[in-house]
Amino acid sequence: MTSPLLAPYEGPHLRLRNRIAMAPMTRGRADDVTGVPHPLTGEYYAQRAGAGLIVTEGIWPHPLGKGGPGIPGLVTREQIAGWRAVTGAVHEAGGTIFAQLWHVGRMSHPLNLPGGATPVAPSAVRIRSEGIHTNEGNVPHVTPRAMTTAEVEETIAAFAVEASNAVRAGFDGVEVHGANGYLVQQFLAENTNRRTDRFGGSREGRLRFALDVVRAVADAVGPERVGLRISPDNPENEIAEEDARGTYRALVDALDPSGLAYLHVIERGAYGALADLRPRWSGTLIGNFNGPEPTSQRAGEEVVAAGLADVFSYGRLFIANPDLPARFAASAPLARPVEDLVYGGHAEGYVDYPPLARV
Ligand SMILES: Cc1cc2nc3c(=O)[nH]c(=O)nc-3n(C[C@H](O)[C@H](O)[C@H](O)COP(=O)(O)O)c2cc1C
Repeated sequence: MTSPLLAPYEGPHLRLRNRIAMAPMTRGRADDVTGVPHPLTGEYYAQRAGAGLIVTEGIWPHPLGKGGPGIPGLVTREQIAGWRAVTGAVHEAGGTIFAQLWHVGRMSHPLNLPGGATPVAPSAVRIRSEGIHTNEGNVPHVTPRAMTTAEVEETIAAFAVEASNAVRAGFDGVEVHGANGYLVQQFLAENTNRRTDRFGGSREGRLRFALDVVRAVADAVGPERVGLRISPDNPENEIAEEDARGTYRALVDALDPSGLAYLHVIERGAYGALADLRPRWSGTLIGNFNGPEPTSQRAGEEVVAAGLADVFSYGRLFIANPDLPARFAASAPLARPVEDLVYGGHAEGYVDYPPLARV
């Protein structure tokens, strides 16, 4: 049987050469001072342009949105120029590339922020269990500062500016990172959003930031160029969603009429998010599993064959297999990444994994 992942996809706003997306993956190689992507980032993504869609690593819309060393921005003229070279290389290779817009909220540290600033969040709720990576090693989290209402509005506007910058840099579209316990999900979750203004206090209030960000970004670049990534019921980064089903049904219902490029759902936890949300979403749906091991070819095929998603995204397998769709097509062996070279550094472990023909 030919893999359902290898069939081209034609959705309302997306035409992809296959149904395999490269999931967003932070690689920590940008210039830590300027936030400009690494000079090899264009080559890295161009090597992976056989994916139907590439979603870049998370990119900050505001200096306070940066989570760790070597994470790029999309704010300054130099950063935009750096990304223009990346999108040019991917387009030259026939690929489609969306920029992931990522504000980490409380998942940062003064050592990672300009001027030693305190991280901002919906509420001053500190993450307790895990340390955070900085240039001085792993350190405990600090208590974030609750954003004022005006700051929340400024941050929404910053996402819209980042989206416009992405289009100026040649991206085919943008993906709002609403997953994995970062700022957008910190507004959605009951345990991290204790606000009493209109961005909290009720389900409607907790949804407002996500909806306002997506709408502001869609107003800036057109809804057909905007995707949203969510991870319902994902406990990562100490998120506790008391009513994931209620929250995400309401979010999806509110956004379905907007005509977005896609919804990208990470399935994790007890709530079967793909099965629950698929019937409520009339546009393109991208599925992803986030388990302890890299998701297999078979797992994505089953999801697409069952109609639970139109496209499936792979993260870890793309690190050491730049031509992953060709390997799936050939049932070829898959290379394993060198763990120590995933984050930070330069060419090694980044652009030196050979394609199948050269293995
Ligand atoms: C090294 C690494 C970096 C990641 N960075 C991001 C990121 O910047 N944004 C994001 O939404 N998810 C990020 N993820 C999660 C992946 O997009 C994906 O959901 C996860 O790896 C599960 O898919 P897989 O089983 O195919 O690897 C990252 C994952 C890895 C392994």
